[in-house]
Amino acid sequence: MSTFARNILGGGLKSDTLPADLSFEGETVLITGATSGLGLEATVHYLQHGASVTITARTAAKGEQAKLDIESRTGKLVDVMILDMDTFEGVKTFVNTFKKENRHFDIILLNCGVQEFVWKPSPEGWFANIQVNVLSTTLLGLLLIQWMRSKPEQSHLLFVGSGSHWENDLSKWPRKDIITFWSKEENFMSGRDAYGISKLMLHYCVNAMDKIASAGGKISPIVNTVCPGIVQTGIARSFGGGVWGMQCVAKAYMALALKAVPADVGARSLVVAAKTTPEQHGTFRRPYLTDDEYEKVSAPFFKTEEAKEIQAEVWKEVVEILAAADPEVSKIVL
Ligand SMILES: NC(=O)c1ccc[n+]([C@@H]2O[C@H](COP(=O)([O-])OP(=O)(O)OC[C@H]3O[C@@H](n4cnc5c(N)ncnc54)[C@H](OP(=O)(O)O)[C@@H]3O)[C@@H](O)[C@H]2O)c1
Repeated sequence: MSTFARNILGGGLKSDTLPADLSFEGETVLITGATSGLGLEATVHYLQHGASVTITARTAAKGEQAKLDIESRTGKLVDVMILDMDTFEGVKTFVNTFKKENRHFDIILLNCGVQEFVWKPSPEGWFANIQVNVLSTTLLGLLLIQWMRSKPEQSHLLFVGSGSHWENDLSKWPRKDIITFWSKEENFMSGRDAYGISKLMLHYCVNAMDKIASAGGKISPIVNTVCPGIVQTGIARSFGGGVWGMQCVAKAYMALALKAVPADVGARSLVVAAKTTPEQHGTFRRPYLTDDEYEKVSAPFFKTEEAKEIQAEVWKEVVEILAAADPEVSKIVL
């Protein structure tokens, strides 16, 4: 059953709550894409629970605006770094700054993501969703895992995935050149389909990164994917060409038909996921499905021979693209 049907029948998806004794006192948190939506609201929660938070923004102006908003709401200071995930160079520049400043974070939340409603190429030539949600996020994840594993402290690396990863039809996926196929304009189906395709690819890549983060029996960092359910944010900003009236339609549709929850409610999932234990390394955190329910809906995308082949091919292609963009990748993915 699709998320849509579940919501209509079930009256909305279940959200996480924040435990009364939740504390991040003394912990440092990095949140990417915190200029709006879930990232911004997660920042507020982390600050209110004692963490020191650094956020990323694409531009200094956007970062300053988010900083003012967050600081006026919480009375706490927030640090801003620049990260543009449209290009591999943007990711590499960010990680180099990070290393030069010898930064350590206890929790890193890779939240940046896009949902394009019309086909749009990235400056690197890939479909924009694939660039940001898959390729740049995986490059960032790999470089961070390498960095985090070099530190003695245990840390958490969270990827914001999506339940839309199981709203896919693998029979429409080619067996070879998958990234190129789904980056072509003629293969763009709809904003919803294209988003689900990119998020399934991300879940495939995180499954491979989980293994890198637990190589040799040493789990560091603890890696998880998390989805808060359907949340009212700016994610559908390109719907209807970004025209104001169409934005209102998109927001009304999300609220009434999809029963999306407010961003501060959804963001709780991106906060409680940072409390996973090493035993929970590699698991997908979501408040709205039991393990049995998730097993049932996700099995066709991970457990069948066809799915395993596609997953392996996606990972192989992603690594090839990333290794060409940054030779460091070949040293991390052995
Ligand atoms: N909303 C939902 O129902 C839902 C459900 C499940 C998962 N998610 C996931 O949650 C994450 C946050 O999305 P959201 O719903 O909060 O949407 P949002 O309000 O649009 O926030 C997306 C954030 O990502 C940043 N971003 C996008 N492209 C970027 C790029 N190329 N480089 C750097 N930053 C970039 C945006 O910055 P700008 O302001 O500069 O664009 C913004 O800060 C995404 O990964 C999304 O897929 C959302």
